[in-house]
Amino acid sequence: MPPSLTLSFMLFRFSFSSPSFLTHLSTTTAAAIYQSEASLQQPWIGVLVYAGFVLMRDNILQVDHHDPENLSLLRFNALWESNYRNNSLLVFSTGRSPTLYKELRKEKPMLTPDITIMSVGTEITYGNSMVPDNGWVEFLNKKWDRNIVSEETSKFPELTLQSETEQRPHKVSFYVQKDKAQDVMKALATRLQERGLDAKIIYSGGMDLDILPQGAGKGQALAYLLKKFKASNKLPVNTLACGDSGNDAELFSIPDVHGVMVSNAQEELLQWHAANAKDNPKIIHATERCAAGIIQAIGHFNLGPSTSPRDVTDLSDSKMENFDPAYEVVKLYLFYERWRRAEVENSELYLANLKAVCCLSGIFVHPSGIEQSLHDTINSLKTCYGDKQGKQFRVWVDQVYLRRLVLSHGLRADLDPCPPDMVGWSKAKHPYNLVVLDLLPGLASRVFFQNKYSANFRIS
Ligand code: GLC
Repeated sequence: MPPSLTLSFMLFRFSFSSPSFLTHLSTTTAAAIYQSEASLQQPWIGVLVYAGFVLMRDNILQVDHHDPENLSLLRFNALWESNYRNNSLLVFSTGRSPTLYKELRKEKPMLTPDITIMSVGTEITYGNSMVPDNGWVEFLNKKWDRNIVSEETSKFPELTLQSETEQRPHKVSFYVQKDKAQDVMKALATRLQERGLDAKIIYSGGMDLDILPQGAGKGQALAYLLKKFKASNKLPVNTLACGDSGNDAELFSIPDVHGVMVSNAQEELLQWHAANAKDNPKIIHATERCAAGIIQAIGHFNLGPSTSPRDVTDLSDSKMENFDPAYEVVKLYLFYERWRRAEVENSELYLANLKAVCCLSGIFVHPSGIEQSLHDTINSLKTCYGDKQGKQFRVWVDQVYLRRLVLSHGLRADLDPCPPDMVGWSKAKHPYNLVVLDLLPGLASRVFFQNKYSANFRIS
C-alpha cells in the first residue's frame, strides 16, 4: 500500500467486442456516473473534439472496410482511457441525430464521451445520460423559424427530405445530387434571406444538405462550450478537433484549436482547407486513416502521450515508482485479450506479475454475480489461454475513472459519494478500492449483462 495511505478508486466499464457482440452494445449508454454540467467544474488539460467519428462515410455500411476489426478506434480508446480520461474532455461531434448516434454506438466500440454534440451542432448534451444544454437550445431558438425553412425548401424539387429521425428542432436535412448542390444552395439562401431568416446551409458527404440556424453548427457549438469553460475559469490548455467531412470545417476555424483532417477526409473538407487554411500550421492532414489520424495528431502537436498501450508489445513493464492506475487497468484488460488470443507466451510469470499488483483480499464479481477472489480469478486464466486464438475477440475499457480514497479508522476507506445510479454497488461489503465494472461479455454463451458489478482489488 502506498505510504500516503491513499488508494486509487476506479470506476470503469469494460466490454468485449466481437462482431456478434457489437450488435448488442446498446447498453454502452450506461447510467450516469458523475458527468453532467458539473463536469465543467474540473480543470481540463485538454479537449478532444472527435467529429464525424472519423469512420468511413457510413451512410450505407457502417464499416471501415480497411479496418473491419475497428483496430484504430480500439488503439485510440486504449490511449484515451490510459492517459486522458481523467484530465481531459472527450467530445463527440456528429451530424447524426441522437437516434442515429445511439445506433452507431451499438455497432462500434465507441467510448462514452463527456459531451456529445449532435445534429450538426444543434444539440449539446452532457454525460452518459445525455443531459441537454438548455442554454444552447434557447440561444438557437432566437431568430429561427422552422416553418419558413419547410415552406421554402418545398419549392425545390431537387431536394429530397432525409428520414424523419434526422429532422430536428434546429436542423432540416435533405439529400441533393452533387452537381445540383451549389445552385440549389445559392437560390435557397436568397429565398430564406428574403423571408428574413438568417440560416446556415451546409453541404457534406457529396449528398447531405442541412439547414440550421445561423448560430448553429459544429464549430459554433464548440465555440459555445469553450466560452462556457472560460467563464468558469476552466479553459483547457489544448483543444484538438478531428474531422473528416464538410460539416467539420467550422471546427477548424475556431481560434486556438488544433485540427486534424484524417487521411480519409472527404473531398469537400480538403477543398475547404486548400481555400481557407492551407497556411495554418495548427491544422494538419494526417497520413493515417480514421482514429489513427487522431493519435498521429496528438503526437504531431505534442499534446501529450501518443503511444497507445495497444502498440506496446511488452505489457509487463509496470513501473512501481511511477504507478499509474488508469494505465494499469487498460493494460490488465489488454493482457487478458492477448492471453486469450495466445498473443503472449503461456507463462506462469505473467500471472505471477498480475497477482503482484493485485490486493490479496481483492474480489472479482463475475457478471453472473458469482464472487471470486481476485487471485483465484487470475489462476482461472490458466484454463482459457488461447481459447480465442484466430478469432475476432477484442477487449476494451470505457470510462476508467480514478478517484482518491482517504483511509481513516485503520483500514476503512471513506469513499466519495457513490454515483446515485450505480447498480451492484457494494461499498459496505468491500470498503476498499472498489472497481465497478459494467461487464458486457455476450460472446460464446451469448448471455448479455447490462448491470454493473463491483470488484474489489488494490493496485499497490
Ligand atoms: C449525418 C446526419 C444527416 C446529415 C449529415 C451531414 O449523416 O444523419 O442528417 O445531413 O450527417 O451533416
